[in-house]
Amino acid sequence: VIWWSKMMMPLLKKPEGNNAIRAIMSARPEINFGGGWGNHQAPEKLRACFEEVVRNDFHAASRYSKTKGNERFLEVLVDRLEDGVYGRKGIGLENIISGNGSTELTAGLFKILLQKGDSVLFSDPCYLNYPTQATMEGQEVKVQRIPILDEGLNFLPRTGSEAFLADFEQIIESTAPRAVVIATPDNPTSQVWPSEVVEKMCQITLKHRAWMVLDLSYRSIHFGERPEYYGLNFRNYENLITIHSFSKDFSLLGLRAAYVIAREDVIEQLEHLEGARNLSPNTLVQMALLKFFEGSTPEEIEGYFEENRQKYLKTSQVMTGALRVALPNPTLLVPTGGFYVILKIAGYDFRNDVEFAAALAEREKTAVVPGSAFGKVLDGSLRLSYAPLVEQPEMIEEGVVRLARTLKNGVGFHE
Ligand SMILES: Cc1ncc(COP(=O)(O)O)c(C=O)c1O
Repeated sequence: VIWWSKMMMPLLKKPEGNNAIRAIMSARPEINFGGGWGNHQAPEKLRACFEEVVRNDFHAASRYSKTKGNERFLEVLVDRLEDGVYGRKGIGLENIISGNGSTELTAGLFKILLQKGDSVLFSDPCYLNYPTQATMEGQEVKVQRIPILDEGLNFLPRTGSEAFLADFEQIIESTAPRAVVIATPDNPTSQVWPSEVVEKMCQITLKHRAWMVLDLSYRSIHFGERPEYYGLNFRNYENLITIHSFSKDFSLLGLRAAYVIAREDVIEQLEHLEGARNLSPNTLVQMALLKFFEGSTPEEIEGYFEENRQKYLKTSQVMTGALRVALPNPTLLVPTGGFYVILKIAGYDFRNDVEFAAALAEREKTAVVPGSAFGKVLDGSLRLSYAPLVEQPEMIEEGVVRLARTLKNGVGFHE
């Protein structure tokens, strides 16, 4: 066994977070607060487009598309969604590449942007795939983290933005990262980064010649006003790269569709890489999406987003409300977008959040993700996802009751 494992590349250097999640999900939970997937439906019109493409055009849909994606699809996507809904101007075919999910494109970006010995800056906490991806395949990259939450789970880019930005600039100066990557709305904090802060970060990174990467996978699910930076691209800040996914916004999770928008030279490099390792994004999905966007106005698309936003907002309120009823003065982070509530459990009778999550899965068949999977700052916290239960909010209360019971009965669990 040792011999064979030595025959492999050091592929995944830090899989602890992923492993914890896998173990908890494999307990076959009845109530799932663990999943980072929304349970709303894709637009009915889009389902019908898939049906039509399969019925009438299956042969064409089963062929390779260009590595960058089908050009007509990309043009219509830019016209109806990027420009039509978000007012993003000046995105040509040379500035966009389609891919099989943003996970794959993000890993590709790390590969082309980061060289041996480079630093990369992520928030603490951050989406747990970033550090794994940045250091994968033997990439010798140093991961730096900037805390975005304090002890009381306040979101520092909002509650202490000046100090946060000063900290940010100081880290940029001292570690000279090649790239900064944030998600907004964020996973796991479910916070929408404030517009002024993101713009300042674009300016600071530009000044220090670092790439600024915004992962906008949860873009449509913001509960307050739409952030102004949704309209920005590399024409505003040449170092700005944005990552987009159909997984959350259109609930196409397993169908794998995503894209990246950036300067031409970034897209060219990514295309070169994708050509070698992926060859072609899924043609059927692109054809169905092309048909869908051709037959939809920006208003209709925005209407679909708005409907889901309201659903997620209500569901998030059910979850925070239930936690406040079930627990005395809980320390939690109220979402301003996205899928998640962060709950602090430090102070209860458990050794750590991983042990608690495992106990909850085993005893109460309720899945949550230990906060430490996302970074040190969330040691002793949990990420509770309300997205899998967006169509069954009544289950949330039951899950919270089980969670509270496990917290209260804490003594002896780890013996
Ligand atoms: C911040 C963030 N980016 C990307 C993804 C993955 O998206 P995709 O399905 O496009 O690979 C997730 C999934 O949870 C996420 O939370």
